[in-house]
Amino acid sequence: MRIGLIAASEERAMTGMSDLRSAIKRHGHVPCEFLVDRAGVRMGNGKVSVFASADMHGITEEKLDGALLRNIGIVKDYEQLGQRIWTLRSLEICGTYVMNNVMPWLSASDKFSTLVTLSEAGLPVPDTVSSEDFFAGYRATREFKSSVIKPLRSGLGLGVFKVDDPDVAMHIFSYFVNVNKPIYVQRFLEKKGGGDYRIIVVGDKVIGAEFRKGKTWKSNISQGGVPRKAKINGEMSELAIKATKAMGLDFAGIDMVETKDGYYILETNPTVGWSGFKSVTGVDPAEHIVSHLISKLKA
Ligand SMILES: Nc1ncnc2c1ncn2[C@@H]1O[C@H](COP(=O)(O)OP(=O)(O)O)[C@@H](O)[C@H]1O
Ligand SMILES: [Mg+2]
Repeated sequence: MRIGLIAASEERAMTGMSDLRSAIKRHGHVPCEFLVDRAGVRMGNGKVSVFASADMHGITEEKLDGALLRNIGIVKDYEQLGQRIWTLRSLEICGTYVMNNVMPWLSASDKFSTLVTLSEAGLPVPDTVSSEDFFAGYRATREFKSSVIKPLRSGLGLGVFKVDDPDVAMHIFSYFVNVNKPIYVQRFLEKKGGGDYRIIVVGDKVIGAEFRKGKTWKSNISQGGVPRKAKINGEMSELAIKATKAMGLDFAGIDMVETKDGYYILETNPTVGWSGFKSVTGVDPAEHIVSHLISKLKA
């Protein structure tokens, strides 16, 4: 079978790609790079077809049995986001099983959408307010005392910051509003052990977990966090599996923290990197993800 690896040109070498490529080959299938910013879709005559690239020789239609969605690049514009997302939806419409499915992937890539969906499913998330009204943000920072402000779409802990003074927050929010940025404020959580858990779920199974102890209150590896293999209990494992299901994902890296009041889910990463995870747990997520995709394709 032909299995696509979906990325944007500028992020085609993203971590995890070579592990996935090796796993696809090990299973006897063919990995094919699919660059979403170079692809296109043709519609008309009752038909939709996706082409990988249009060149002087015309249109080469892309036929992929399955595909793994890694990234859609750095999107700077609403229409560009639409172009990339609908190109991938078209792949699905043409019969390619895209893992994770495009719409759940998009939803899980957004922190606001994730927390709303998890809350709807009755899963524990931190107290959070999302709004374009800076008074709403201000009131939240007064109530929370210590707050974490985040972009709706971020990774590696970049752009995530802590504010203890509501007036400082108010001033920052007024700038956000001027550049049309929504305000996303979360109650700061005191984490047991000074870090968080990353639990990787593939299908309906936890394949492993790591604990990342932060150098600061952020525990992202890219911010100096140090990973170690973690043993998780039944409750954590159940929460991680339920969160993955609630988001409609085939696989996910669930970020969870433990506080004196219990567990909270911070994120359900639908792309999930695994270099630290692989080295401390000895588990290769690529192998599990590719096996899961192939079993879906054969079903
Ligand atoms: N509400 C919070 N309270 C305390 N720490 C937090 C909170 N939210 C996030 N963090 C810490 O900040 C880091 C980055 O936050 P996260 O929401 O995971 O964003 P990113 O997508 O950038 O990784 C995480 O490692 C987490 O431990
Ligand atoms: Mg995170």
